[in-house]
Amino acid sequence: MRRDSQPLTEDRLRMAEIVPAAAGPTFASDVRRGLSAEPKVLLPRYFYDALGSRLFEAICELPEYYLTRAEAEILERHAAEMAAALNSPVRLVELGSGDGRKTRLLIEALVARQGHLLYLPIDVSSSALEQGAERLLHVFPELTVTAFVADYQAGLRALRNEPAAPGYRTLTLFLGSTIGNLDPAERVALLREIRGVLRTGDALLLGVDLRKGASVLLPAYDDALGVTAAFNLNLLVRINRELGGAFDLAAFRHRARWNGELGRIEMHLESRREQTVPIRDLGLEVRFAAGETIHTESSYKLEAAQVAEMAAEGGFSLRKTWTDRGGRFAANLLIGS
Ligand code: AVI
Repeated sequence: MRRDSQPLTEDRLRMAEIVPAAAGPTFASDVRRGLSAEPKVLLPRYFYDALGSRLFEAICELPEYYLTRAEAEILERHAAEMAAALNSPVRLVELGSGDGRKTRLLIEALVARQGHLLYLPIDVSSSALEQGAERLLHVFPELTVTAFVADYQAGLRALRNEPAAPGYRTLTLFLGSTIGNLDPAERVALLREIRGVLRTGDALLLGVDLRKGASVLLPAYDDALGVTAAFNLNLLVRINRELGGAFDLAAFRHRARWNGELGRIEMHLESRREQTVPIRDLGLEVRFAAGETIHTESSYKLEAAQVAEMAAEGGFSLRKTWTDRGGRFAANLLIGS
């Protein structure tokens, strides 16, 4: 409960809407490009409309999807050690509005250590940011939030105008193995962008899903309840609703494949038959052969050695890795070098 001496939550929340520097691709332009390409692709960032975000939350509860629980276990056991690792007061930046539970564990540890905390989450969804911030501000009277409604690139650029207070370091969170949805070149580019707004000695806590057998990975991306299938097929629902598409969901099936050569799980939508699907607003007719797929997501699973390599390429050094008891997931503390 709020103590009388503590300011109201609204006095401790600042929302900054960041307009991107240049108009980028849109859902329509990306769908046109992806479905005209060979092989066909759709970008995973489009999974997360209102329904897709709820379906992703449901995925995190599934018995087969171990990632969220494994990372939460690591934070439960080691948040205090993580909070102490920089040996100075910190402000906390987060890419993505964050899983309330995991972020909360770190905030709790930091508040216990330094008595107050400035938290700066970056997310494209203003509602996710506002709701998440309100919840945290009620729990932690010692917390102040500056939230950036922006994609990662624009949010990171905006952070350049918000330097850390003298004597403070920045600890950036990038959890949930979201980095695993980027190709090797893209993930190094993002690490460099993050490094570009940090000072030497600042830190990035990076959640990474580790390489493991297909017998564990495949069910995590093709669960018995069919939630991941719905999450994947929802891309077609979104094209139908937002672009006047005529996809018949029953004519496509969800596929998860382990690509051992590239070390990644791939999600696809496979056409069950030969068909042509019109997308009215794009003036496009998309032809599918029977068995042809749309590649919708890659989820890379890294070897421990690859994490240190990726950190170095991004301008960081790997200081410490914590894993869950099952050795499935790693939280890595990278220090700007
Ligand atoms: C957000 N991202 C880390 C998830 C993953 O595991 O790649 C997205 C997801 N796709 C299917 N299930 C979950």
